[in-house]
Amino acid sequence: MLNGKKIVVGVTGGIAIYKVVDLVSKLRKQGAEVRVVMTEHAAKFVSPLLFAEISGHKCAVSMWDGRDEFTVEHIALANWGDLFLVAPATANILAKMACGLADDLLSTVLLAAPCPIIVCPAMNTGMYENAATQENLNVLRRRGISVMEPASGELACGTSGAGRLPEVTEIIAYLERFLAKREGDMRGLKVLVTAAGTREPIDPVRFVGNRSSGKMGYSVARQALLRGADVTLVTGPSALTPPPYAKVIPVETTKQMLDACLKEYPDVDIVIKAAAVADFKPRSVADQKIKKINPEEGMTIAMDQNPDILKTLGGMKKQQFLVGFAAETQNLLENAANKVKKKNLDMIVANDVSLKGAGFNTDTNIVKFLYPDGTVEALELLSKDMVASILLDRVMEKRKK
Ligand code: PMT
Repeated sequence: MLNGKKIVVGVTGGIAIYKVVDLVSKLRKQGAEVRVVMTEHAAKFVSPLLFAEISGHKCAVSMWDGRDEFTVEHIALANWGDLFLVAPATANILAKMACGLADDLLSTVLLAAPCPIIVCPAMNTGMYENAATQENLNVLRRRGISVMEPASGELACGTSGAGRLPEVTEIIAYLERFLAKREGDMRGLKVLVTAAGTREPIDPVRFVGNRSSGKMGYSVARQALLRGADVTLVTGPSALTPPPYAKVIPVETTKQMLDACLKEYPDVDIVIKAAAVADFKPRSVADQKIKKINPEEGMTIAMDQNPDILKTLGGMKKQQFLVGFAAETQNLLENAANKVKKKNLDMIVANDVSLKGAGFNTDTNIVKFLYPDGTVEALELLSKDMVASILLDRVMEKRKK
């Protein structure tokens, strides 16, 4: 999303300015072209030379210094960007923007800029919570300016509360999501993804489960978000951090996953079921931790069949494009093709989980896509993010037909 984007970064005089040096560097690493405009106050915290070095372009501060196209011709700089980011945005610049003041280079360029504007307020909590600042922010929101909420925590002035500039990774995620929602090919689509394994309790401390880490499903969710979709991630227990901007529904058992999926299902356009669902559950769950068993007698746990979530969804299918996964250790194509039919799927992603680099808890996967018409597409060993990205390409192609 950021590759090739022209971003004007407006920097005002706040202590969080040090994070913006890193931000500019990271934006460039992601392929964005960046030009920095600083206020005179900001230039007292950090030399414009540093931003010039990091951005690869002269850093503009004053209307009057130099006569190159971007310092004097502020309209040219305003028109250059695809996106304008103000970070950190002090109470002062927010007030100026709300009033339409243009008394220095940054406020002038901002007033002239036709591109989308994002502001990242960062200041002392009292200043942030002051009614004047809040009203100014509301004015900006009403005018279509996007306001990234500040983080809470300890501030440079020694107080604690809202007003911290979010971390650089969070600002980048915000920019990516902002662009994805405007330009991504999946914008406007609702996608339900399931991930990780479900667990069926035996007693209060033990469960029947499987080796799914959630990596495959989380990759699908992340890629769909980057393409602008609204993503609901129904996830079994996982050590992974869910991708930002997903609606996350944590579940433990197959029944909980079924209930969550049924609730979301009527409204979604695409379902991708990467979760490894426990097919069986203990017939009864012990109230207390089961003590050691007699080695001669052993222990038998009676199991019941769990509902098949995907088959249930397939039986109720309306507008939804339904994608299943098939985790197999033998007869991959035959078993996967049967699942397409039995579960009324539009596509299945088959992985032989006995192959090195494929299946459970790896960063890579080796998959084959199968369709109801019998066609098969085999992918080589790829990262799970790449598998997810190609999977979404195919979903989008097939939905159009
Ligand atoms: O999470 P990772 O560590 O990254 O591992 C990825 C993965 C191996 C879990 C993933 O690539 C995968 O194969 N997921 C599907 C696992 C599975 O349950 O496969 P299955 O062949 O048993 O089930 C077929 C399909 O029916 C799956 O989409 C499954 O979600 C669904 N199902 C299965 C049983 C059941 N009771 N309800 C279901 O909805």
